[in-house]
Amino acid sequence: MSRSRAVVIMAAGLGTRMKSETIKVLHEVAGQALIDYPVRQALALGAEKVVVILGHQRARVEAHLAKVFEGAPVDTAVQEEQLGTAHAVLCAQQALAGFEGHVFILSGDVPNLDLETLNALDAHTGDALVGVLGMRLEEPARYGRLVREGESLVRIVEAADCDAEELAIQAVNAGVYRADARFLFEVLGGLRTDNAQGEYYLTDLVAHAAAAGGARALVLEGEAAESLHGVNDRADLARVEAYAQRRLRAALMRAGVTLRDPARVYLHEGVQVGPDTILEPDVNLQGDTRIGRDCVVEQGCRLTDAHVGDGVHLKAYTVAEDAIIEDRCAVGPFARLRTGTRLGEKVKVGNFVETKKAEFGPGAKASHLSYLGDASIGAGANIGAGTITCNYDGYQKYRTVIGERAFIGSDTQLVAPVTVGDDAFVGAGSTVTEDVESGHLALSRTRQKSIGGWVARFRARMEED
Ligand code: UD1
Ligand code: CA
Repeated sequence: MSRSRAVVIMAAGLGTRMKSETIKVLHEVAGQALIDYPVRQALALGAEKVVVILGHQRARVEAHLAKVFEGAPVDTAVQEEQLGTAHAVLCAQQALAGFEGHVFILSGDVPNLDLETLNALDAHTGDALVGVLGMRLEEPARYGRLVREGESLVRIVEAADCDAEELAIQAVNAGVYRADARFLFEVLGGLRTDNAQGEYYLTDLVAHAAAAGGARALVLEGEAAESLHGVNDRADLARVEAYAQRRLRAALMRAGVTLRDPARVYLHEGVQVGPDTILEPDVNLQGDTRIGRDCVVEQGCRLTDAHVGDGVHLKAYTVAEDAIIEDRCAVGPFARLRTGTRLGEKVKVGNFVETKKAEFGPGAKASHLSYLGDASIGAGANIGAGTITCNYDGYQKYRTVIGERAFIGSDTQLVAPVTVGDDAFVGAGSTVTEDVESGHLALSRTRQKSIGGWVARFRARMEED
């Protein structure tokens, strides 16, 4: 029977090499903070307790966690001074008082680790006191080296403490562990800082475990090892982001989405796209964006928190934010749907149209060059080119309501608050300042004059001298 699980996440360090005002674990990969990843993994592991160790910018990280993981069983513990990774884990002792079972220790800066790998570590570690995730690297750089004898892990040596022979070891510590809870806290309390960095090293746990009956390492290679890379500087951040993008694109393709040029599609974690949808190059899908099936998303579209139905055609360079686009709409090219836009079925929004807090009934059309803000547009209405809702007087916003099947002529200004009834017509070039009743024609432009012979007289006068 598997034992109960707790997770400790180390996230107290500032991350000096990031050269940032922002603590490392709040930097983002695929649209989510680094710290979100291990917390999600911990919850996926079914941990009965999750303790995040905080230090630098503690209030910021705490507020972030409270917002993202509202209601989830995520605790925090404070490490006032960053005395090393062993000291960090020791700070969770109180929060885990009385816990018997396996403690998984994760780093706040290793986002691509997945649940299968954690489960593999668990299985591989078996009855051993401590298990460590490792990776084989051509250039092991500053990572701690795994010293193994046969199947057993003997100790971990930090790069700064290695002799020449140890430095050549390519199997390195990824900083992810599973340890028996009682053993862990017994040993951590007694560790010393007699090493090159003068820190309490969590990695010293391994030599103790080896002496007390067993430590093991699961070492990944190739692309799988890439999932264990951590972030220390901006170059690492880019490398980890690149892996996250490959992973997210591969998942969409497995789910039946065509990516014309996968390397040029940028995705946020959690974005959903239905089968038989086509994503052209330079598509950027962010936040809580969901796209249905059988859609075409053309070159350069950028969607943030957008919900798109089935059979929708988003033409090139459409930008949408916090917008709902129902089935079989056609949008763009070069359309901008801002917050609070809702397009009902089969709506058509064409080039250079900007919408904000605008609801369109089914089949409504605004095909060219318009600004439609704080507006409700009835089913089947047609908005002519150059129509503008004048929704703002410098102090407040006002609504424009356009009825079903209404026809708004080109170059109309609708001075809100104003209502145009069902089946009403507004003549081209009108400035509408009063409500238009259903079925009426409204015209507010001046009547055209025609003056015979004017041009000849004008030219003669101009050419006189
Ligand atoms: C650590 C390991 C090293 C491993 C590497 C993998 C030790 C001694 N070394 O080294 O073997 O190859 O991770 O990435 O553990 N942290 C705290 N409090 C502290 C110190 C660190 O919370 O006092 C946190 C950091 O914020 C970070 C994580 O622990 O999230 C790892 O610390 P870091 O200083 O990056 O360890 P490395 O030197 O990389
Ligand atoms: Ca590190």
